[in-house]
Amino acid sequence: MDFTTDPRFAGIEPFEEKVWLSSPTMHGDEQRWVDDAIRTNWVSTVGANINEVEAQIAAYIGCGHAVALSCGTAALHLAARLAGEALYGQARPSEGTLAGRRVFCSDMTFDATVNPVAYEDGEAVFIDTERDTWNMDPAALEKAFALYPDVKLVVMAHLYGAPGKMEEIRRICDAHGALIVEDAAESLGAKYRLDGAWVETGALGRYNAISFNGNKIITGSAGGMFLTDSGEDADKARKWSTQSREAAPWYQHEEIGYNYRMSNIVAGVVRGQLPYLDEHIARKRAIYERYREGLKDLPVKMNPYDAERSVPNFWLSCLIIDEDAMAPMVRGEREYLYASESGKSSPQEILDALAAFNAEGRPIWKPMHMQPIYRTNAFVTVEGNGRGRTNAYISGSGIDVGADIFRRGLCLPSDNKMTAEQQDRVIEIVKRCFGRID
Ligand SMILES: Cc1ncc(COP(=O)(O)O)c(C=O)c1O
Repeated sequence: MDFTTDPRFAGIEPFEEKVWLSSPTMHGDEQRWVDDAIRTNWVSTVGANINEVEAQIAAYIGCGHAVALSCGTAALHLAARLAGEALYGQARPSEGTLAGRRVFCSDMTFDATVNPVAYEDGEAVFIDTERDTWNMDPAALEKAFALYPDVKLVVMAHLYGAPGKMEEIRRICDAHGALIVEDAAESLGAKYRLDGAWVETGALGRYNAISFNGNKIITGSAGGMFLTDSGEDADKARKWSTQSREAAPWYQHEEIGYNYRMSNIVAGVVRGQLPYLDEHIARKRAIYERYREGLKDLPVKMNPYDAERSVPNFWLSCLIIDEDAMAPMVRGEREYLYASESGKSSPQEILDALAAFNAEGRPIWKPMHMQPIYRTNAFVTVEGNGRGRTNAYISGSGIDVGADIFRRGLCLPSDNKMTAEQQDRVIEIVKRCFGRID
């Protein structure tokens, strides 16, 4: 379909410069700290930038210790390994610490949340999503503990910067003696009210991770951090991240190691970005609110959050189309088809229209239980076992909230540097997708 000649889009010009989903926003201070590292010759995985960003992040988040790493995935891997060792003991070098163990995991998230469970030879059991914040559903988590009472580890993420239902999740995990690994890669700067006190995401689990990937709220070009209140565990993570060297004059190894430490150059970029974290959050919030206002007359809703108990960082603005305004759309493994209908639209149509006018949106992260690699893993919904839940002889079908949000939702261009005029044009394109077809 050629959107630029489609009468629904008459008068709309393509963007000259691409409008991105979420791209890095540099301020100039980054250069200073990168130059500082080069000038002083600290171009390695040690240096002042690393020490400084660890201290600043630990203070900002209010956690005891921060360990700077090459990426958020590395932080999640060390978190999974530490949790596995704490729960089940040290593993042989060739074996993961979660071998033969089930781990409850967020389902609608980026695969980096859950892959570290597989790196440690564990088996992820995916927990369905709730509709209030689009995160792990505590009611489904309760069901999962009923089905698999031996589970001792829960890995949960805060999607698109909106905190999940941590009060309930923590209560359920406490009742079952389970540890929490919190993936705050997308939610740096988001807060959650716990027992009357505001707590930053990244300080709500036993072991926590943040990311400085290029698309995140602040970036180091890459990079991530492992966060914990335990000094002993932070020391262990730091040791494992630098190939697990023992205290000996030579390279001496008694446990498996990794090359996961952050470089002092990357840390320089993070150091330059940190003073702008709150400004970035304010900007993302303004983008979210402009969309909410601009799209309010359409049959769509914005990605939800709990305004009483949380303050998101509004990393990505998303929408979900009302069921009765969904035009036909089917997705295969790699291809899709849709039809246009008056007054209706579909995520793939909106994404194609945005792309035709040089703006970048993205489908909602496809739930893990639907991914080919994890299709045989267990999946638990509020109704219990989420696999094989329909019956050819009985009408009606089971609930699958994640699949539904994936089908009807999409991420809108949410770039910090998008101007109000550009955003208004994006809103107009979305509106026209729901226009009349004569
Ligand atoms: C939810 C989530 N977890 C983990 C990661 C991994 O972070 P990184 O890219 O720094 O490895 C990302 C993003 O990249 C993410 O969005």
